[in-house]
Amino acid sequence: MEIFKKDDKLFYMIDQNYHLLPVLNRFGIRLGFRDKTIEDICHDKEINPGFFLAMVNTFHNVEYFPEEELLSFSPLEIVHYLRKTHQYYFQHVVPKLDYQLAKLIASAQNDCKGLQMVDAFYKKYKKELRQHIDYEEEKVFPYVIELVKNHKRDDKYTIRSFEKEHSDIDEKLNDLKQLLIKYITPDYDDNICNDFLITLSLFEKDLEDHARMENKILLPLTTEIENRLGR
Ligand SMILES: [Fe+2]
Ligand SMILES: [Fe+2]
Repeated sequence: MEIFKKDDKLFYMIDQNYHLLPVLNRFGIRLGFRDKTIEDICHDKEINPGFFLAMVNTFHNVEYFPEEELLSFSPLEIVHYLRKTHQYYFQHVVPKLDYQLAKLIASAQNDCKGLQMVDAFYKKYKKELRQHIDYEEEKVFPYVIELVKNHKRDDKYTIRSFEKEHSDIDEKLNDLKQLLIKYITPDYDDNICNDFLITLSLFEKDLEDHARMENKILLPLTTEIENRLGR
């Protein structure tokens, strides 16, 4: 799979992979690119082109993960990107899944037991996701920001405590998908079910990427700062 470069046109990039649109939005980039290249738009929006390309290519290409390069960016840049991603999940993806699942249940001819199971699992998952993200927003990110901006360490807390709490929220989404694919009786509208599954699959991929950024980049970067500051 290809790797985008800074002189590629934005139009070309989206033509190759339109799933990158939400990633672009996280950087404040919206449609109407004309013939601008990645470098042009980064200049206009005051975005670090290296960071932008690393994010876009990591999302686009599963085999691409420039760990060393990613570790050279500021944790503040990373936190900003992760926060935008959280917003995208709760303002767009979760409401969309809610809507599609409700529609799917309404399309079932009978009182489909399998779908009720899916619904119960999904509701539980949503709660866990909310807790997971609230914890990051309220505890982890402010801790990282404080560390970077004020060079102050909190004696009671290290980023490693965050690692312990950081459960695999993306794996549970796969369980939900499997439940749907393997065990429900086909008593519903196929197209609505397909839409729901597609949204779930895209979300799963986005979450995997997100967790990778948190575990492999934000965590070691923060540990390094903690070590530098010492006790
Ligand atoms: Fe997160
Ligand atoms: Fe997370």
